[in-house]
Amino acid sequence: MPRTLFVTTALPYANGSFHIGHIMEYIQADIWVRTMRMAGHTVHFVGADDAHGAPIMLKAESEGISPQALVNRYASERPQYLNGFHIKFDHWHSTDTPENIELSQGIYKALKAEGLISTRTVEQFYDPVKGMFLPDRYVKGECPKCGAADQYGDSCEVCGAVYTPTELVNPYSTITRATPVMRSSEHYFFNLSDERCVKFLQEWTTGANAQGQKHLQSEILGKTREWLGTGEADAQANLADWDISRDAPYFGIEIPDAPGKYFYVWLDAPIGYLASLKAYCAEQGIDFDALLDPNGTTEQVHFIGKDIVYFHALFWPAMLKFAGRKTPDLLHVHGFITVSGEKMSKSRGTGISPLRYLEIGMNAEWLRYYIAAKLNARVEDLDFNPDDFIARVNSDLVGKYVNIASRAANFISKHFNGELAYTGDTQALKDEINSVTEAVQSDLEAREYGRAIRQVMAYADRINQAFDTAQPWVMAKGIADASAEQ
Ligand code: 2FM
Ligand code: ZN
Repeated sequence: MPRTLFVTTALPYANGSFHIGHIMEYIQADIWVRTMRMAGHTVHFVGADDAHGAPIMLKAESEGISPQALVNRYASERPQYLNGFHIKFDHWHSTDTPENIELSQGIYKALKAEGLISTRTVEQFYDPVKGMFLPDRYVKGECPKCGAADQYGDSCEVCGAVYTPTELVNPYSTITRATPVMRSSEHYFFNLSDERCVKFLQEWTTGANAQGQKHLQSEILGKTREWLGTGEADAQANLADWDISRDAPYFGIEIPDAPGKYFYVWLDAPIGYLASLKAYCAEQGIDFDALLDPNGTTEQVHFIGKDIVYFHALFWPAMLKFAGRKTPDLLHVHGFITVSGEKMSKSRGTGISPLRYLEIGMNAEWLRYYIAAKLNARVEDLDFNPDDFIARVNSDLVGKYVNIASRAANFISKHFNGELAYTGDTQALKDEINSVTEAVQSDLEAREYGRAIRQVMAYADRINQAFDTAQPWVMAKGIADASAEQ
């Protein structure tokens, strides 16, 4: 049965270029989208820039440009990466758009009408020179445990202690170096601890989609159980209400009927998935509301990294559910990419620059192949090892796969008129090919790419062996000798 799918990848912050982690996620999703299309399904695959938030606002300010100009600059360089690695989104959008404003404000109003929005006073560090509340990462000071200087407001990189920004000794604002003061302000909350939300999330996180696939991988389900409890009568949910507002100045979407208050970037970011799809639908003449009918059959699938599970497995389905919208059908979480076993680090120069990879003439297919060969459906980190990369490309892609074509092409055209004939049991050959194809397709659909590739390569081995056994070059030589005699 042909299915209709709406597929997204996480929206990248628009204050930096793509790194190899983004490219890995996009390649993973792009392979899946191609697989589903080859199986006859309709897929709408969209992305967007995640434009809002304090870091983007402050970076733009430091460059003396508007946040929109900063976002546009990064947006304009996206295509060279995406095209370069053959990643084909149907549409690329931004969260700073009329579609996203309308959808975000609409979803908020719906949640409010459900009685799931509340306000309360929050005390927070405030930079009196800059005139703004300071997100935790903009406050530094001395570690309250070991006294190390210049530590962030949440944890100490020297002794590993975890604390709140207010516990820092001699705190300072990283924006102006001013000493922050405590100030209170009214914040808006999404009442995630409401028993309706908890009950729904206990169902959704343990649930399955119409295809019978679980919404969550088992590792992720385990994580959500820690947050939600098990749903048994004696289990306690540990859900806190979610602070969804930020005070001006903030680059974001205004909260309706709340002057000077903006949605926290993480509220409108996932709604950007819908905004991108909506813009795409308008372009294509597709009925967006019908496509995402809560009772319809479209499957909504999000590819994300393991660091943003909380937002996608709790906030996002709950927001959609209680705004009366369609909820996600599948969350596919991948691990991080490491380089030679180490976390990538810009300062140590251990990352792989995707653009540099292309600039020096490396083939995008090699990286796609290597990533596919190492990916599976679990939440595991993927290690890029340069020696392993070279070996795999040479031995698998060149030595096995391309080898079949390269050793056959020349004499097929030279001696056999460019035509092939098979003298064995054609039906048996077809059956064999079909069974490999079905196995590979099913692994790809299950996002077990490594297993799929192993099957393809095992079959390439078989073909090469059959080639060696049949020795067609002997036959070719016979033909050549015969024609030389004439
Ligand atoms: O972690 C990040 O890079 C976020 N910009 C991801 C947002 S995903 C979605 F919610 F938009
Ligand atoms: Zn410390």
